[in-house]
Amino acid sequence: MARKKNKNEDAQDLKGKELKEDTNKEEKKQKKENEAEGSESFKIVDLEDIPHVGTAIAEKLRSAGFSTIEAVAVASPAELSSVAEIGESTAAKIIIEARKMANIGGFESGDRILERRRKVGKITTGSKALDNLLGGGVETQAITELFGEFGSGKTQICHQLAVNVQLPPEQGGLNGSVIVIDTENTFRPERIIQMAEAKGLNPDDVLRNIYVAQAYNSNHQMLLVDNAKELANKIKQEEGKRVRLVIVDSLMSHFRAEYVGRGTLADRQQKLNRHLHDLMRLGEVFNAAIVVTNQVQAKPDTFFGDPTKPVGGHIVAHTATFRIYLRKSKGELRVARLIDSPHLPESEAVFKVTERGIEDR
Ligand SMILES: Nc1ncnc2c1ncn2[C@@H]1O[C@H](COP(=O)(O)OP(=O)(O)OP(=O)(O)O)[C@@H](O)[C@H]1O
Ligand SMILES: [Mg+2]
Repeated sequence: MARKKNKNEDAQDLKGKELKEDTNKEEKKQKKENEAEGSESFKIVDLEDIPHVGTAIAEKLRSAGFSTIEAVAVASPAELSSVAEIGESTAAKIIIEARKMANIGGFESGDRILERRRKVGKITTGSKALDNLLGGGVETQAITELFGEFGSGKTQICHQLAVNVQLPPEQGGLNGSVIVIDTENTFRPERIIQMAEAKGLNPDDVLRNIYVAQAYNSNHQMLLVDNAKELANKIKQEEGKRVRLVIVDSLMSHFRAEYVGRGTLADRQQKLNRHLHDLMRLGEVFNAAIVVTNQVQAKPDTFFGDPTKPVGGHIVAHTATFRIYLRKSKGELRVARLIDSPHLPESEAVFKVTERGIEDR
């Protein structure tokens, strides 16, 4: 779409122009890098190419961190209206146009889905057996749910993935950064250091690529997904880093604590549904893996199928693309079982949790 510019806009102060030229340069550089990597997750188009967006609105959007069409496409009208100082109905129109351009939220043709699927990246868990169970590792553009009782290794796997995603592709990583939404205050930099050292990585560098936020309640947890989107855009623009992994550990603890009575279950499911869809969209826009954890009680007196009904019920079950049930075995050993995968057989893998991290037994 050609961009129409009027004289008044041309006469706008130079500073704005310089700023924009800088942004363009940066974007072009990024585009080249994308093509080189073959993992393009953004099409670079000027914000001004969106109908209803002129220079003034575009500048406001950029300075609020909305630097790409995709970022605008996944924003809410209220959010956009407040940062760009425009009415909500204009904001809604802009979002609809941006979605068309970014091809987000609409129908996609099969060949486009295939193109997107080709860009799916995989992150090694550190255990070949566990990777094989997942068809090669934890996938981007998908939600992977780790569920199991306390001590079954959910948080350990999250820490390990936060380290491994930073490795180069030949070592099972994606050269990526990580966002962690920590609801139970269980993120431990000390543990990251242990795992990074075991891989021969510089622990300070590894820690610098992990962005952690504590979620104080379920609303805050949902808000943090929006913030994650902004942060991912910001560090991409400012530091050229790509977020390729988003962790929510644990997904359900706040929802479970806040919605106790049966009467509020429908509300909870609705919110949870929105939360998971927001996460999924984040995974698609940034070509990032989404990993969520979910604690369930072990039920030793029932046959195996039973604990595969985690708290969160059907919505979590239907949105997650990979669901891994973890259980404790002898000592350091843990057993992972893949549940209801659409394209992988249901089977088990044994791995261990040691001081070095997640390993094959
Ligand atoms: N530094 C370490 N060295 C060796 N093993 C460790 C280390 N840290 C943790 N572990 C192992 O990991 C277990 C804890 O697992 P993890 O924290 O992942 O459980 P979880 O599934 O997240 O549980 P919860 O539901 O309580 O959050 C410990 O019991 C221990 O076996
Ligand atoms: Mg945990």
